[in-house]
Amino acid sequence: MENPTQPDSPCGNGMKITVAEDGPYIVCGHVPLKREIITLVGGHREYELDRIFETEETYALCRCGHTKTPPFCDGSHIEAHFKGTETASKEDFLDRADLYPGGGVDLFDDNRCAFARFCHREEGDVWSLTEASDDPHLMDEAVKASTDCPAGRLVHRRNDDGTLIEPDLEPEISLLEDPEKGVSACLYVKGGIPLESADGTMYELRNRYALCRCGQSRNKPFCDAMHVPAEFHDGL
Ligand code: FES
Repeated sequence: MENPTQPDSPCGNGMKITVAEDGPYIVCGHVPLKREIITLVGGHREYELDRIFETEETYALCRCGHTKTPPFCDGSHIEAHFKGTETASKEDFLDRADLYPGGGVDLFDDNRCAFARFCHREEGDVWSLTEASDDPHLMDEAVKASTDCPAGRLVHRRNDDGTLIEPDLEPEISLLEDPEKGVSACLYVKGGIPLESADGTMYELRNRYALCRCGQSRNKPFCDAMHVPAEFHDGL
């Protein structure tokens, strides 16, 4: 099911991801697709490009974790009786997030963790770095720790002018691999791609978010790190 076009296509104009009821993610608008490896470098992690996929204007990505044609849907969700009911809050990030004050930057944290561990750096974790962010070097480290997070869980706000700090990301989807944990991880969605629920409503537009592709999340459609205890392997 790589090309779910008319007459049932939910695609309008532009890029969009639609959650199909108990089915895949329908991706519209020529969204680039790649695979990246979460790579430990010294005391922090980086994204290492592994592969770029050829895609069409519209394609369907597996959401249940059972496809035999990864990362694309092959209809296995039907045989697997996949229940993909969305349980995540649609409340806006800033309304859900806790605030951690710091010297140079404050941190908003909504606790929507994909366990990619970019929030941990050589000098400390994002929370301790935020607290110590009146030191310019530690503030830079804190901001790296938040802006590299694929889940969009962590967003800093500058104390001098009140602006929120987001990374500059081109629209694309990245399948993450986590060799440290020996698992395949979330779909890292970048660059402000709108996300539509199976009920037709829209989630808040975010610059980055992490979608579940193992089928095990308790916060669908978002990843909640269940791919680790589930020992998910996408078969690629
Ligand atoms: S991919 Fe992370 S919980 Fe499913």
